[in-house]
Amino acid sequence: MSYDVAVIGAGPGGYIAAIRASQLGLKTCLFEEMPTLGGTCLNVGCIPSKTLLHASEHIRLPFDFGAIMAKKSDVVAGLADSVAHLCKKYNIELIKARAELAGPHQIKAQERVYEAKSIILAAGSEVIGLPFLPFDEKRILSSTGALALDHLPKSMLVVGAGVIGVELASVYARLGTKVTVLEMLPQICTGIDTTLTSQLFTLLQQQNIAFKMDVQVLAGRKLNNGVELTIREESGDEIAHTAEVVLVAIGRRPRSQDLGVMNLNIDVTPRGAIVVDKNFRTTIPSIYAIGDLIDGPMLAHRASYEACAVAEIIAGQQPKVEYIHIPNIIYTSPELATVGFSEEEARQLTRPIVIGKCAFKANPRARASDTTDGLVKIIGDKETGRILGLHILSSAASEMIHVGVLALAKRMTLAELGDLPFGHPTYSEAIKEAALAALGRSYHL
Ligand code: NAI
Repeated sequence: MSYDVAVIGAGPGGYIAAIRASQLGLKTCLFEEMPTLGGTCLNVGCIPSKTLLHASEHIRLPFDFGAIMAKKSDVVAGLADSVAHLCKKYNIELIKARAELAGPHQIKAQERVYEAKSIILAAGSEVIGLPFLPFDEKRILSSTGALALDHLPKSMLVVGAGVIGVELASVYARLGTKVTVLEMLPQICTGIDTTLTSQLFTLLQQQNIAFKMDVQVLAGRKLNNGVELTIREESGDEIAHTAEVVLVAIGRRPRSQDLGVMNLNIDVTPRGAIVVDKNFRTTIPSIYAIGDLIDGPMLAHRASYEACAVAEIIAGQQPKVEYIHIPNIIYTSPELATVGFSEEEARQLTRPIVIGKCAFKANPRARASDTTDGLVKIIGDKETGRILGLHILSSAASEMIHVGVLALAKRMTLAELGDLPFGHPTYSEAIKEAALAALGRSYHL
């Protein structure tokens, strides 16, 4: 065999798996078909969207849309270069080509067959479109097109009020686009603790984002200067809505179709997710799969977490992956970040729970910086005090949530967290207050 490990896909799953494998002394190669490394997250996902979210939040009038987009491209290109440097540093052989499985230890690329003892599939996911409205990335946009527009649209219909829907609706509404979000369910960001999502929903409406909930998008067509969608509203009325562009953000699916998994009879779920055991092994023991290709939350940091683990498993170690420790962050204003069980999930555990909350109106740092929207909500086991979940709606939520990751990973109790000294004045003090509130002994509430 030429390699110990071959990795397909250089996103935050694949390139981290390759680096970790190389750190462990395994001879590693990495296949990537796109011209730049970093996958969806770096090139057309998390990084460009966070650049636009930051720019649109700090915008001053008048602004240059072209300059904002150029800055975004600079950030992406710089980070993609860094990934290429890392591959070099770790002696990972980078093969810039489309790769396909050709056997339990074989990969076909550039009309050559490469052999490896173990293969890690990390090909990620792709956007799902509406069957009657194919993407052209000019008027009918996926997140990829919406992150690369050449001018600011006057109006935008967003189908889907999930993570991508609310993040990109925020970007364009802040820049002055008239944004309407169409969602088939009664809530935004379903699956996340509803105390937080319902507050976020109210705040987003105050930021000039219009929502139509409980609607069905029945049909769509391109017009000369825009797009028309026919919607069945909650009332049952069918109404046509037009806008300059439509962003379809109704989810993503695993990119398992063109990897050659079918030829090898590797099991795939009806959704297209590759079936793996707890060690990320597919039905062929030498082939592993991680990240968006397998079932679970489609998050870059989850793919990296699994990537590190799978490389260690291949090297003979026994790493632990605890899915309940993986945070989930939505980069709206304020940000929404959660880890562990939501109240709805915790109530199904059939154990009594306690809940503590601290609104940012009661937090001195938030008052001083005029960012009092939102709250911290902490959930604990009533009998043992063990922390079960932490949910934060705050301008600093994406940074604060890691207190919860640590607390869950270290199996802390509400009292252990609440009795720690937290810096004053900080947003994070609201976590301490919420923990103490759950115990009925908060200082400031
Ligand atoms: P999503 O699954 O988060 O949300 C899709 C939304 O579209 C849901 O609310 C769903 O009810 C709605 N929907 C589905 N079909 C519809 C229809 N025909 N009409 C109206 N509404 C419809 O998917 P999204 O936002 O596309 O994101 C894709 C993936 O990318 C997610 O798994 C997400 O976790 C990940 N992502 C994560 C980010 C983060 O962590 N900050 C940022 C962006 C994406």
